[in-house]
Amino acid sequence: MSPTPRTQFLPDEPWLDNNGVPINAHGGGVLFHEGVYYWFGEHKEDGDTCEVGVHVYSSTDLYNWTDRGIALEMVDDPASDITRGCILERPKVIRSASTGQFVMWFHLELKGHGRKAARSGLAVAEHPAGPYRFLRSLRPDAGTWPLNVTAEQRDGLEEAQKLLGTAFWGSPHPDRARMNFLARDFYGGQMAKDMTLFVDDDGTAYHVFSSEENAALHLSQLAPDHLTHTGRWTRIFEYLWHEAPALCKHAGRYWMLSSHCTGWNPNAARSAVADSIFGPWRELGNPCVGPTPRHRLGPDLTFGAQSTFILPVQGRPGAFIAMFDTWRPEDHCRSGYVWLPIVFGPDRFTITWHDAWDLSVFD
Ligand code: GAL
Repeated sequence: MSPTPRTQFLPDEPWLDNNGVPINAHGGGVLFHEGVYYWFGEHKEDGDTCEVGVHVYSSTDLYNWTDRGIALEMVDDPASDITRGCILERPKVIRSASTGQFVMWFHLELKGHGRKAARSGLAVAEHPAGPYRFLRSLRPDAGTWPLNVTAEQRDGLEEAQKLLGTAFWGSPHPDRARMNFLARDFYGGQMAKDMTLFVDDDGTAYHVFSSEENAALHLSQLAPDHLTHTGRWTRIFEYLWHEAPALCKHAGRYWMLSSHCTGWNPNAARSAVADSIFGPWRELGNPCVGPTPRHRLGPDLTFGAQSTFILPVQGRPGAFIAMFDTWRPEDHCRSGYVWLPIVFGPDRFTITWHDAWDLSVFD
């Protein structure tokens, strides 16, 4: 049964699609194309693994979403990288102006390998809602150094190969000194976990991902067809452990929303700014502010949520929505969505809890 049309955002309330079914698009992102928003996300069931695929919904008002089905389907072929039972997270879709194709990148963990593969999956479609055709998975930037590589990192190339095959934590660990993961992965390609895509005003696209066992973010330029990395890339915040990156551009500067690395548990959100996309990036602290809402965790724990995307509202310059997930790993189907407006000041942005809000906050 169709639910009553929504006229507001109700953060972390059950959000039903046109059929009255909870929206199943976690770790998602939104593409705008020809007057329509497309929300892509992980179709979650009981566990961490992906049995179904990437779900897509469409909307013209951002409040009400129509189920458009599975944009990218997992396959039964055990030889495929996207065989049912792999882990597929944080899918994002952009359109290449040079080819007109819709390009989806996502974090992929190969079936049966836990979270060690740390690969990027790539799929394309001729129509925004798909169906998407899986092309390949890869470790980005193999055989290239970042723009800000140091002599020490380069010189440690052979020594760092000894780190291959050792298990690491994926989050800060007091007993471990800094390791040259960058050089360790020079030949095989860099680890790519939590990720986002960002398209600049000039159409240049960037793939931003947690790399080096999550110790650093990498920002890597994509070719005009958005199907390959150009080899022009940089490391951001080395040994500062960021996850869940999301980017936008406002007032000529680049802004980032991200999280710390605490798995499914909420932590304090993080924000950063840069004048140039290749940096330097400057951390600005937790953008979440204001009172703790009733029945929810407070701004110090991102209201119980973790960032996934910054959504530019079309036709309203300067209006951006911070999209977060509330993870419920004990029952992933009940994981929810927190969308809140971003307020920009001259030197930072803030995000305040609202029980209910609509786009008029941007007026
Ligand atoms: C989170 C990450 C999620 C998922 C989870 C698994 O930190 O942001 O996308 O990978 O870890 O534990």
